[in-house]
Amino acid sequence: MFRLRCPAPGAAGHPLWLGPGALDGLPALWRPEWRVAALVADRTALRLHGAAVLRRLRACAGTVRVYQLPPGERHKSVATWLRLADRMLADRLDRAACLVALGGGVTLDLAGFLAATYLRGLDHLLLPTTLLAVVDAALGGKTALNRPAGKNLLGAFRFPAAVLADTTLLETLPPRTWRGGLAEVVKHAVVGDADLFRRLERAGRALHRPGSLDLALLARAVRVKLEVVARDPFEWGRRSVLNFGHTVGHAIEAATGHRVPHGAAVAVGMAVEAEAAVERVGLPAADRDRLVALLGALGLPARSRGPFERLRPHLAVDKKRRDGAIRLSLPVRLGRMAASQTGWTVPVKAAALRRAWERRAAAPGRAR
Ligand SMILES: NC(=O)c1ccc[n+]([C@@H]2O[C@H](COP(=O)([O-])OP(=O)(O)OC[C@H]3O[C@@H](n4cnc5c(N)ncnc54)[C@H](O)[C@@H]3O)[C@@H](O)[C@H]2O)c1
Ligand SMILES: [Zn+2]
Repeated sequence: MFRLRCPAPGAAGHPLWLGPGALDGLPALWRPEWRVAALVADRTALRLHGAAVLRRLRACAGTVRVYQLPPGERHKSVATWLRLADRMLADRLDRAACLVALGGGVTLDLAGFLAATYLRGLDHLLLPTTLLAVVDAALGGKTALNRPAGKNLLGAFRFPAAVLADTTLLETLPPRTWRGGLAEVVKHAVVGDADLFRRLERAGRALHRPGSLDLALLARAVRVKLEVVARDPFEWGRRSVLNFGHTVGHAIEAATGHRVPHGAAVAVGMAVEAEAAVERVGLPAADRDRLVALLGALGLPARSRGPFERLRPHLAVDKKRRDGAIRLSLPVRLGRMAASQTGWTVPVKAAALRRAWERRAAAPGRAR
C-alpha cells in the first residue's frame, strides 16, 4: 500500500491511499465533524463493491445515505446533478455531511461538482473504481459536467479531503474499460516517466487482465500526474502537458457521438499527435514507433479511421485552440514534453495535423 500526499493549493495537500485494502483507511481518515455520509455512487460500482464501502461508512458516520446514478457518460449532466442535489436537499443534508464518491471518472467528476456547489461546498472523499479514475480523474481537483456544446464545459476546481484508491476494486472491470485506463497510464509514461514506459513495454500483454498492473507501476503513473498538478494546479500552463493525445482524442469522441470509448480515442489521439510531434518538434521516429507498438501490445488502437474533415469542427471548439492554430501538447521524446516560448503547448497548423492523421490511417496497426 502506498500512502501518498496529493498537492492541493493553499494547503498541505490531502492523503491518497493507493493499493489493495485502501478502503480500510476510511475510519482513519474520517473526521468527527462529518456526522452524515452521503454516498454518491455509480450503480454498477455500488452493486459490485457497495457492501464493502457501506459497512465501513456505517462504522464512521451516524447516518449514511445513498445517491445512485446510472452508468454512462451521458449522466455526467446538469439533469443528474440537479436530481441528486434536490434529493440531498429533500433529505435536509447540511454541511456536516461528507460526500463520498464511488465510481469511475463520470461519478467522480459529477460528485466533485456536487460537492463544490451543494450549500456552497461540502467536504468530499473520492473512492475511484476504474483504472482511469485512479490514475487520472481522482487526482488534481477538476470536477465537471458535460453540455451539448462539449465535454466538461461546466465545472469547478474542488480538491477532496482524501482519495482512497483500493486496487482490488479494479479486478471486476470489463476488459475494455480496463484497457481504456491503460491508455492513460501510457500517457503518463510519455509525459513524464520514460522508465515507466520501458517497464510497460516489458510487461506488454501480461497487462491485459483487469487488475494486473503492478502496484509500483501504477504508483509511478499516479506520481507523474501529481508532480504536474503540484506545479500548476489551476492549469495556467504546464498542466496542459497532461492533454497529450486528448485534443485529437476528444475530437474523435465527439465526431463519433462517443461510440469510440475515451481510452481508445486517446490511444489513437496519442499515435496521431506523436506523428505530428515527429514533424513539428523532432520526436524521434523510433519513439513514435515504440508508442504505437506499446499501444498494440496493450490491445489499444493506434490507427486513425475516416476522413480528417470529420474531426475539424470538433478541433475548433477545443479549449487549447488559440490564434487560428491548433495547440497541442507534444512529446520531444518519451518522458519529456515540449515547451515553447508561449508555454507548454505548440501551435500546429491544421494541414500538418491532417498529414499526421493520414499517415496514421495508412500505417500498420489496429484501428479502433
Ligand atoms: N477530472 C479529471 O481530471 C478527469 C481526468 C480524466 C478523465 N475524466 C473523466 O472521466 C470520465 C471517464 O471515466 P471512466 O473511464 O472511469 O468512465 P466511467 O465512470 O463511465 O466508468 C466506466 C464504466 O465502468 C463501470 N465501472 C466502474 N467501476 C467498475 C468496477 N470496479 N467494476 C466494473 N465496472 C465498473 C461503470 O459503471 C461504467 O460503466 C470522463 O467523463 C472524463 O471526462 C476526468
Ligand atoms: Zn483521458
